[in-house]
Amino acid sequence: MRTIEVVLGDRSYPIVVGAGVLNAAASVCMEQYHPSSVTILSHPRLMALYGEKVAADFRGLGLPVAMLTVRPGERHKNLRTVERLYRELLSLEVDRKGLLIAVGGGVLGDVCGFVAATYLRGIAFVQIPTTVLAQVDASVGGKTGVDLPEGKNLVGAFHQPRAVIIDTETLATLPARELRSGLAEVVKYGMITDERLFGDLGRSIPLLLGRDLAALSDAVVRSCEIKAHIVSVDETEQGLRAILNFGHTIGHALEVVTGYRRYKHGEAISIGMVSACLIGEEAGITPPDVTEAARALLSRLRLPTKFPDDIDIDSTISATLKDKKRVGASVTYILAERIGRVAPTPGVAAELVRRALRRQQA
Ligand SMILES: NC(=O)c1ccc[n+]([C@@H]2O[C@H](COP(=O)([O-])OP(=O)(O)OC[C@H]3O[C@@H](n4cnc5c(N)ncnc54)[C@H](O)[C@@H]3O)[C@@H](O)[C@H]2O)c1
Ligand SMILES: [Zn+2]
Repeated sequence: MRTIEVVLGDRSYPIVVGAGVLNAAASVCMEQYHPSSVTILSHPRLMALYGEKVAADFRGLGLPVAMLTVRPGERHKNLRTVERLYRELLSLEVDRKGLLIAVGGGVLGDVCGFVAATYLRGIAFVQIPTTVLAQVDASVGGKTGVDLPEGKNLVGAFHQPRAVIIDTETLATLPARELRSGLAEVVKYGMITDERLFGDLGRSIPLLLGRDLAALSDAVVRSCEIKAHIVSVDETEQGLRAILNFGHTIGHALEVVTGYRRYKHGEAISIGMVSACLIGEEAGITPPDVTEAARALLSRLRLPTKFPDDIDIDSTISATLKDKKRVGASVTYILAERIGRVAPTPGVAAELVRRALRRQQA
């Protein structure tokens, strides 16, 4: 079991990682917070697989425990779900000292976090992420929120969890495509700050894809260390946190132009990271061998790297201009100077992006 601290003054919290730590979830929570009641939020299947065990442990400690379910899928990450949950919490008489616990992927964690941020003006919550993506990214950092018909994550709040409990054994039941998609974010951490992580990933691909618990735990711990550090320095994305968007400008645009149906998030980010490398080459920032190394690692993880030739480049570039992270009229790309070092680059010309994406289509 490894513990990483997210250092944020009186909002600091531990990330506990290890195979089997679900068994210690209730006691880890109780070390951080003494709730009047516990409400576990999960998807029906994950509740049966993992949530009920956590509930039983809290009951054993004498606490009132309720379980609420949300149907899986991004389409349920909306205000309707949030309202239903508020009202269910009210009918359960959950008060300001109640604790909410999310057991699931990023969708569940984002919804649960947003409910916790706003119900009775904010109550405590804990994340128990069960996808690679949520373990290495979504559960850490306190961004919570839901989607509107107009776009993703348009309503939200910063609300830090009291603890993040990551049991890598839960990944045993994760569909293979979800596993690989999450690993794209681990590659991103290597690209933005950690050349050694990038190299180690290359050596451990068969273990990672084979769900070796030690290899997965190592990748998760190192990703969480990087995210925890970045969040500690820049909680609300005023500066450093922006480097986490490496690969996300084109990645998000691809998700938008394909209606969020064609790609898993990590798959779009995999393509987007190669785009960022090629854009960096066009801007004279990224050496071609960096692009090649990124492309090779991602394709060995069986992630897509080519910009699909049936997708219109100009529509994709237009979609980047509507990104909610844009400030004013210009898009800031995070470009790679080498493996392990990136630089936010404002004012990248559309023509240069177009050239890069044409090369990526070939
Ligand atoms: N808050 C943040 O900082 C942040 C960061 C990145 C992504 N996100 C959000 O995360 C969401 C994507 O999260 P995701 O990729 O985890 O997808 P997800 O939450 O939709 O989970 C993917 C699927 O896997 C299933 N699943 C989850 N864990 C499982 C397990 N252990 N075994 C079997 N099935 C399991 C889920 O039920 C779901 O069907 C997006 O909404 C995105 O906006 C948030
Ligand atoms: Zn991402």
